[in-house]
This record gives sequence, C-alpha cells and structure tokens, in this order.
Amino acid sequence: MMRKANQKLATVCKNLSPSSTMTGVLQRSVAATSVVPSRSKVLTVDNMNPFVKSMEYAVRGPIVIRAGEIEQEIKSGKSKPFTDVIRANIGDCHATGQKPLTFLRQVVAICTDPQKLMNDPHDSAGVRVIREDVANYITERDGLPSNPDDIFLCTGASDGIKTIMKLLMTGKSGNERAGIMIPIPQYPLYTATIAEYNAYPVSYYLNEEKGWSLDVSELNRSITEAKKHCIPRAIVIINPGNPTGQVLKKENIEGIIKFAKENNLFILADEVYQHNIYAEGSAFHSFKKVLTEMGPGYKDMELASFMSTSKGYMGECGFRGGYCEAVNLDPDVKYQLVKSISAKLCSSVSGQAAMDVVVNPPRPGEPSYELYKKERDLVLGQLSQKAQMVTQTFNSMDRITCNVVQGSMYAFPQLHMSDAALEAAKKKGVPADVMYCFDLLENTGICVVPGSGFGQKEGTYHFRTTILPTVDKLTEMLERFRKFHDSFLTKYK
Ligand SMILES: Cc1ncc(COP(=O)(O)O)c(C=O)c1O
Repeated sequence: MMRKANQKLATVCKNLSPSSTMTGVLQRSVAATSVVPSRSKVLTVDNMNPFVKSMEYAVRGPIVIRAGEIEQEIKSGKSKPFTDVIRANIGDCHATGQKPLTFLRQVVAICTDPQKLMNDPHDSAGVRVIREDVANYITERDGLPSNPDDIFLCTGASDGIKTIMKLLMTGKSGNERAGIMIPIPQYPLYTATIAEYNAYPVSYYLNEEKGWSLDVSELNRSITEAKKHCIPRAIVIINPGNPTGQVLKKENIEGIIKFAKENNLFILADEVYQHNIYAEGSAFHSFKKVLTEMGPGYKDMELASFMSTSKGYMGECGFRGGYCEAVNLDPDVKYQLVKSISAKLCSSVSGQAAMDVVVNPPRPGEPSYELYKKERDLVLGQLSQKAQMVTQTFNSMDRITCNVVQGSMYAFPQLHMSDAALEAAKKKGVPADVMYCFDLLENTGICVVPGSGFGQKEGTYHFRTTILPTVDKLTEMLERFRKFHDSFLTKYK
C-alpha cells in the first residue's frame, strides 16, 4: 500500500505546476551532484542497496523541499500572497518556537564541563546511574518494579526501535520474511525501517469513525491476510498516536495484548508521547503496566517500550536521547541484544544526560523545581489549548472532519473531496490530498503533509498537521487555512 502511495507521489512530479514539482527539486539536486557521471563511481544508484532505495519518508518529502524553496524565494524578494512559510509538517518543537527547558540545558552543560564530568562507569547500554533513574521513573509511573538491566539508552527512540526490530528479522526472503504489524496511518519510521530490513509490513487500519481506536477484529483480518506473505513476528502500537493523536483506553490495550498472545507476537510499544495527553478523560496506560496487571499468562510476554527526549514538554530532538525497556526477553536473546548494542557503541552522553532529566526531574522543595514546573506546565498547557483549537477549527470547516486531538502533537483531519476536486486531481495524475497540500502551500505558505505519506484507507484523503506553532502563529495559520479551504471548495464545487 505504501509502495502504491510512493508511486502516486512520484507522479506528482510530472503533473503539478513546474515550480512545485518534485521533479524540479530532484533535477536541481541531481544536477548539483552529478558533475562526474555516476558510471565512474563504485557505488551507483543502480548497484546500491535496493532496500534503502525503497524507503520513503514523507515528513521530509517533496512538499517539504518545496516549502524550503518558497522560503528562499521570499528571502530573495519574490512576491507571494503570504509573508512566511508556516512549518506544521514536523514534530520539532523548538524549531516552531518552544523554549528549551532551562534545567535540562543546565544539566547537559554541567555534564559537558570537564571539571564536573560524571564520574560514573558507563557501558554500551548507557550510563548505569541513568538506567537506574529510568527504572525508578518507570517504577513510579506504573507502581510496578522495573530493572535497570532491562533498559538501554539509545540515540533517540528511533535507534531503539530499529535495534529491536533488527532482532526480529528472520534472515529469510519471500514469504519467510518477518512480518511486522503496523498501524495505518503510521509514523513513517516504521515503513521505512521495514523496507530497509526487507521485512513485510502487515498493515492494520485504525478506526477513524471511533476516534482512531484499534479494533481487534481488524487485527485479525490483517494478520490472516498477511500469513500468506510473511511470518508475523511483532506488533507495533503507537500510543498516544502519531499522526492520529488518539490515546488508547485500557480495555483497548488489553484486547491488543490478548491478540498478541494468541498470535505469538512480540509487542513494540511506541510510547514517546506519554507526557502529551490533553483530552478530558484520557489517560496514559503503559503496555508494561497493563500487561503485568493482566496476570499469569500475560505478564511474561515479551515487550519493548520506547521513550524519547524529543517529545513531551522537552522537545529536545537534537540531543537524540531515548531509552528502551525490553522485558521478558529470553536470556540468550538479551545477550545478543547487548552484543549488538555494544557493536555500535553507546548513545551520546549528552543525550543520555537529557534523558536523565526527563526521568529524574527536580522535585518539590529543590532549588530548580519552581522554574522547571513553570516551564513544563506552560508548554503542556499551551499544547493542550492548541490541540483544542485545531480540533474545533477544522471541524467548523465544510468538508473537513477531525477527530479530537487527545494526545501527541498532531491532528490527522479528513478532507471530504468533491467530485470536481477528485476529477481535477485525476487529471493531474496525483492523489487528491497531495494536490490539496501543494495548493495550500503555494497559496498560504502552510506546510502540512498529505495523508498518503502515512497511509490511509483507499478512497479517503487526509493531511497531518502538527499543533506546534505558537498560539499566535497557529491562530494565523488556521485563518489562512480557512480562507484557502473556502476558495478550494468554491473552485471545485
Ligand atoms: C511515534 C514516534 N516514534 C518515534 C519517534 C522518534 O523519536 P526520536 O526523535 O527519539 O528518535 C517519533 C518522532 O517523531 C515519533 O513520532
């Protein structure tokens, strides 16, 4: 399905106006790099790793490249119907105006001061005292014990996810490849990694009509179909969701765990947005806690949970901090895991230090507490306000529906395209959401990502926007959006 979307995206190049084409972007970059004909190179695009070539990463795809070009055009004085590009395509909090947490930066600064360097033995899995702090954080969060030896610190959650997924590969091809169950829509790291590892994506659709929840009947449908093509080995759950912004209910998580048990699947719980919960009545339930509380038969199931410094109220993408807690692994597998981590050496110590602040923040009564709390509450309070703004505004527009942004940092509204719009997109040979997002960018400077980059049900059209621009910028963005949307509806009545 993703491959189909990729092909469709490729046709965008040929069919959109010359200034907004990916072909244009690619031709320019190829022209810049192909001074020497690629035939004279040892490594050419024809003989390179085909699995890397098949990877797609929509959040930085052609539309984002075009947004960069428009910024340059504005700088060079080209007249536009807007004054700036608003980047709502990527979950980089600081890039959109959020201030870094003072305490976190202070701790990292101290850790890099040679006079005060941490005097603690560290190994490839990460600094021991930080892994202990992670374990204490999980223990406090879940009210259940966590073992520092089950934790490894990684270069962002992405690295942890890829490390665990690598263990799950079968080393075989064809229908003996490892099948990894992933939600659709999904965060593109998963399809990209599955392509890179030559695994098989077992797509299950989230239920948009029920607030992007997860139906076990859909999991059963998806795994039954996939068994012809692969050996299903694991299920990925993103909770809170990216790009869909839902927060799973405890009963829903229990259903997923039962399904994983019945089907002998390893669980990968992507819980990087565990601090980003906004909607009333929503709460974060860790897979580890739910699984453990389900008792005998479940509490020994293999599970890897991932956390990051990049999200939450910290937004520290640049430090590349993250951790993975992998529980109930076979001891021999654990040995192999430690070996594979050791082979690439530990993650950066400043990333580890940033992770430590997240899991061991200042406590009431400590000198840094008041400022830390003020900064954290401000960020989370504003995210909550912006989640509401986005949901309400999109739902107030004709032919757009948007599920409540319960958590994470994104909304994934559906565009209900008129026949005329579908016809126009067809004539251009592009998916209608791609046409919409390019038109939006050219007319308003707003950069969002077409739903095709995350996967969506055939015949539906979405886009993903972040809720990250500052309250003022987001207000302006939604105004620009509304005007564009009205004119789009008029144009394609
Ligand atoms: C669901 C999800 N998982 C993982 C990641 C990667 O996080 P990190 O920056 O820690 O690698 C992201 C980043 O956007 C994400 O949205």
